[in-house]
Formats: sequence, C-alpha cells, structure tokens
Amino acid sequence: MTYPRIVHFLRQGKPDQLVTVQGWIRTKRELKGFTFLEVSDGSSLQGLQVVIDLEIVQLVDSVRKCHTGASITVSGVLATSPGKEQSIELKAQSLIIHGESDPGSYPLQKKRHSFEFLRTIGHLRPRTNTYGAVFRVRNACAWAVHQFFQEQGFLWIHTPIITASDCEGSGEMFTVTNFNLGQIPKNPNGSVDYSQDFFGRPAYLTVSGQLQAEILAMAFTNVYTFGPTFRAENSNTSRHLAEFWMIEPEMAFCDLEGNMDLAEAFLKYVFKVVLTNCSADMEFFDARIDNSVLAVADNIINNEFQRLTYTDAIALLQKADRQFEYPVEWGLDLQSEHERYLAEDLFKRPTIVTDYPTQIKAFYMRLNEDGKTVRAMDVLVPRVGEIIGGSQREERLEVLEKRINEHGLSMNQYWWYLDLRRYGTVPHAGFGLGFERLVQFITGMANIRDVIPFPRAPETIEF
Ligand code: 4AD
Ligand code: MG
Repeated sequence: MTYPRIVHFLRQGKPDQLVTVQGWIRTKRELKGFTFLEVSDGSSLQGLQVVIDLEIVQLVDSVRKCHTGASITVSGVLATSPGKEQSIELKAQSLIIHGESDPGSYPLQKKRHSFEFLRTIGHLRPRTNTYGAVFRVRNACAWAVHQFFQEQGFLWIHTPIITASDCEGSGEMFTVTNFNLGQIPKNPNGSVDYSQDFFGRPAYLTVSGQLQAEILAMAFTNVYTFGPTFRAENSNTSRHLAEFWMIEPEMAFCDLEGNMDLAEAFLKYVFKVVLTNCSADMEFFDARIDNSVLAVADNIINNEFQRLTYTDAIALLQKADRQFEYPVEWGLDLQSEHERYLAEDLFKRPTIVTDYPTQIKAFYMRLNEDGKTVRAMDVLVPRVGEIIGGSQREERLEVLEKRINEHGLSMNQYWWYLDLRRYGTVPHAGFGLGFERLVQFITGMANIRDVIPFPRAPETIEF
C-alpha cells in the first residue's frame, strides 16, 4: 500500500482528515504529556509535525522507541496547528516503528554539521535539510532539461560511455580494460599489446558525447545527450569532478549565434522551472546557503547575457583595477579568477566569451577568417565561472584535416568523423553544459561535491 506523500498533506491537507504517512524521524521533542516528532519522507523541505498524546496508552510503548533517524508509519487525523512553524499537524492514533535508530550512535544530530563532515557519511546525508533541497532541485533541473529540448523537437540520443576516441584531445581519459593488471600482455618492444585486450585496441571512458552527437545531428538535425562523462583530471577544486553529467545539444544548420541564443534560452528556462517547482527549497538556499541565490535567479531570467570576443575580454582584463594571480595575455587560457571577474564584477551577469585562440581550444572548432581564432564560446557565470563550453564545428573537410594534423592526432582514428564532412556536410554547432555546475550555480552551493549524491574525485569513491 502506498500513501500520498507528506508534501501533499502540507499543501492540501484538511483538518479532521484521516491520513497515514511514512517516513523518518527528523527530531523528537518531549513536553509534559505530549511528544512531538518531525517526520520527513523527502518530498518537501518541511516535515510533518506528529503530535503524540501520551494519554493514548497504546502509543506510549512505541513512542519511547522513537528516536531521530527511525522509520515509522503513523496514522491519525490532521488538525490545524497552534504552532507558528507549521499550519497543519497530525494527531497520532497508531504508530508502527519499522527500524529503530540508536540515539547514541546516529551521526545526524540536531546541530548543524559541516559539509566536510557530511561528505564522510554519504549514506546518511541525503536525510538532511540541505541535501534534501539540493537533490530535489537537481531533479527539477533534469526534468527542465528534457522539457526544454523536447518542446523544441530535439531528439534525446544516447552516446556511448566506453569509447576509443578522445573528443577533447587533452588526454584526461580513464582507460577501460579487462587485462589482469598484474600480467599485462606486452609487444616485443615492451609496449602494451592492446590487440589482446577486450576491444582489441585502447578504450576509454568518454569525456564527451559530442563526436557521436554530431553523427546523429547529421541525420536528425537537432539532438541532445544527457549522460555521465569522465575526466581523469587530478584537480582537487570546488568545480571539478572525475565523474559528472553533461548535457550536449548539437544542431545542424546552425552557427555560433544560434548556439549562443540556444544556450541563453536554455539557462533561463531551467531557472524558471526550478523557481516554480522548488520555491521552498530555493528560499532555503537564499536564507541558509548564499543570500544572492534569488537575486541571481532573477538576474538570469530578466537580463540579456553579455557577449564579447576573447580578444576584447583580454583587453578588459588587462585594464582591470586588480592583480590577478595568473598572467593575462593574448594566447593564454582564461583562469577561473578571470572568468569570475568578467561575470561577477565587470558585467554582473552571465557572459559569453567567443572566438578563442586556436591553440587553446579543441581541434573540431571552426577556424575563423583570421586563421588565429576559432568559433568557440564559453558561458561564464557568477560564482562558478565556466558553466558551458561549445562551438561552431569545422565542417570543411580540408580545414579539419589540417587541424587534426596540427593537433598531433591520428587521422585514422577520426575517419568516420571526417566522413561526415565528405557526405552532406553542413554548418553545425553545439555545446556542453556541466550539470553539476548548473546545480551549483542555481543553489549557491560552494562545492561541486555537495550537488551530486555520490561524488567521484581523486581518492573519493567510498559510497
Ligand atoms: O568545455 P568542455 O570540456 O566541452 C566539451 O566537452 C565539449 N565537447 C562540449 C560540446 O561542445 N558538446 O566541457 C563542457 C562543460 C564545461 O563547461 C563544464 O561546465 C563541464 O562540462 N565540465 C566539468 N564539470 C565538472 N567536473 C569537470 N571535471 C568538468 N569538466 C568540464
Ligand atoms: Mg571548456
């Protein structure tokens, strides 16, 4: 038997209604003659207050065993609550305890715990207010992603997790093998003999589904991926994970302008859905996590994004009234401090930087007339920095061949990618949005490890 969830009763429960709820005890308070339990089933930030009248003899035994963390089923009648914290409460008539919880050892106590500590109890942290709110918002974001693209006729496609190609060409891939690592077959010259491995050649966890998405865009026009990606970047930062989710739209007959328009409309859409569907959670983030959360959301929805070229961005950074830790020079990549300066301090809104130098971007980006820059775009946002990376793709066969050579990549490996330029090539463009960075941006959570249930990062794989 499944019962309506607590959020349903909080929103539309009526006094005298006979109901049953199931969940976990958040807090227990004992007053003279009464015990108050806050019960949560994860459906809302607020739990339901359950009032147990100790005159009801059959409840007395079970209520003694009720402690924070225990799982229960309670039936009773709803009543208007005299307390100012809630408008409705449940007067218990029967109570079943499914699993007790020892108050001496249960790690989640009523006090505020640090996020660092909560990461060490990844199996219990989803029961806290903050993680409850984060994962409800994460769910709303995922839902909004699909709604946005489906409304516009994009096909959701599934690109492989195991792949032989390095999309970004930066060598940050995890190898996939079924070799016994104690006895790896070797060639006479001492190199690894991959011909004996599972796929007969080196294989990796994907860093991006883009190359395969391009194949499908050349048949279905507009497609998107939404799946896990992996990077063996050994960076212990608040914005990097080794396993993260990426959304990658790819559009045929589309240039960089169209790509930027889509990215902007997309971010605005997701914010609107989250504000509507998770209003209590968003207010919680604004009150408890970062007091700019609601203002930032408002800013995103109501302002146009700033757009400028990399060359202009460098000029502005050089004129900035501050010392940066990393050098600012045409040809060098922007660091997070530069990205945040542009979006947070200078323009105070999401900023799209385009046309980066060829040498700091991937091989597939379309070369500009100047021969020095490519049609790349990065969307930079306050607090997080780069949230989206994308580009118009090089659709001209000869230029692409030249770029593959310049990047020292093997032409043989990209034969099918080059074929797309041989048969029915079209201008096309796309981008990748890091899903966790989006959730970070929306919620104001400072560390990316706190917006994914089970973060994967260097030496972090317990749960
Ligand atoms: O800029 P990136 O590397 O672009 C690509 O992978 C392209 N193939 C996407 C495309 O055009 N289809 O990554 C895209 C986004 C970044 O802007 C960032 O938000 C996120 O993915 N990202 C990470 N998020 C968490 N942890 C990491 N280690 C990330 N690396 C990139
Ligand atoms: Mg990037």
